[in-house]
Amino acid sequence: MGGRICQLLVVIFIHISITTGQNNDREVLQALKNYWQNTPPSWDDGSDPCSGSWDGIRCTNSRVTAITLSSMNLVGGLQGDIGGLTELQILDLSYNTGLTGSLTSQVGNLKKLTNLLLVGCGFTGPIPDSIGNLERLRYLSLNSNGFTGPIPASIGNLQNLYWLDLSANKLTGSLPVSNGSKPGLDMLTNAKHFHFGDNGLSGNIPPGLFNSNMTLIHLLFENNELTGSIPNTLGLVKSLEVVRLDRNGLSGNVPSNINNLINVTEMFLSNNRLTGVVPNLTGMNLLNYLDLSNNSFDPSVVPSWFRTLRALTTV
Ligand SMILES: *[C@@H]1O[C@H](CO)[C@@H](O)[C@H](O)[C@H]1NC(C)=O
Ligand SMILES: *[C@@H]1O[C@H](CO)[C@@H](O)[C@H](O)[C@H]1NC(C)=O
Ligand SMILES: *[C@@H]1O[C@H](CO)[C@@H](O)[C@H](O)[C@H]1NC(C)=O
Ligand SMILES: *[C@@H]1O[C@H](CO)[C@@H](O)[C@H](O)[C@H]1NC(C)=O
Ligand SMILES: *[C@@H]1O[C@H](CO)[C@@H](O)[C@H](O)[C@H]1NC(C)=O
Repeated sequence: MGGRICQLLVVIFIHISITTGQNNDREVLQALKNYWQNTPPSWDDGSDPCSGSWDGIRCTNSRVTAITLSSMNLVGGLQGDIGGLTELQILDLSYNTGLTGSLTSQVGNLKKLTNLLLVGCGFTGPIPDSIGNLERLRYLSLNSNGFTGPIPASIGNLQNLYWLDLSANKLTGSLPVSNGSKPGLDMLTNAKHFHFGDNGLSGNIPPGLFNSNMTLIHLLFENNELTGSIPNTLGLVKSLEVVRLDRNGLSGNVPSNINNLINVTEMFLSNNRLTGVVPNLTGMNLLNYLDLSNNSFDPSVVPSWFRTLRALTTV
């Protein structure tokens, strides 16, 4: 009982010190400066990071709101301290290959974050589930790192997400779909970009991944280990413009309602094990690139509808 109360008091104390606590942004930036090599020369130990003189740091009312340090040759990691920058809206550390180690789950404390851009760094380990707490996030670009493990289902909670790029990592497991109690990528109805290519994602493409409320324009799943057939729910996402499912292990027929995707300009289905007849694609008036090579389609004569398609480069 005493232990319980003690725990409770500790919790209350922590809560109070978080909600009323003074701003420690200066200490956090000092800590980052100490961890990282090659920080800008303007990051002078004596000066206030919010004085306006620290390159790559933007503040409002003495709180850090943006850190933009792409291509600086930064070397180091991203430790838990970063979670203290609770007013941070933009964190862009892209193209610093010397930033390595895992992405701290404290990143989930950055509740005001709209842009999390860590493209082309050296991060490894799992993408933390806590990323699903960042409700204001619009751009999540973790592409070209060494992230492993699954795509966290919690990303489905990011209702404001516009851009989701997880490509060129070492992600595995299946594509998470919601089921009432658990979130999933199908909930991202404001997302325009799903870029998941060049990973080790496996399992089928779940029919529940797609619905008519989605507004995706780029669906890029190429070079993974996806199996099973292409779900006919794909035909519900009429906003699609580029569809890449090439270099997977997909089999079965291509659903005929794919012809409903009237805005598709490029479609890559090559290097799979697709069978049956190539569906009528005359609904795709804007199609200018179609690659169906290296599949097991019925060796029939070129379908009559092909002639009515404008400009096909590869079949
Ligand atoms: C939803 O999926 C989770 C994890 O896969 C599972 O534990 C849970 O029982 C499922 N809930 C329903 C309602 O199917
Ligand atoms: C689409 O959104 C509407 C309105 O939010 C909702 O009622 C409907 O169930 C959604 N449909 C699907 C397929 O998710
Ligand atoms: C197709 O593209 C046009 C032009 O960008 C756009 O106005 C239209 O809404 C798109 N159709 C769908 C179904 O998204
Ligand atoms: C054809 O696609 C399969 C995957 O389904 C791949 O393993 C194979 O290397 C491809 N063949 C050629 C010649 O590209
Ligand atoms: C292909 O589908 C279109 C509708 O998009 C239809 O008008 C046309 O007759 C079909 N062609 C063939 C050969 O099935």
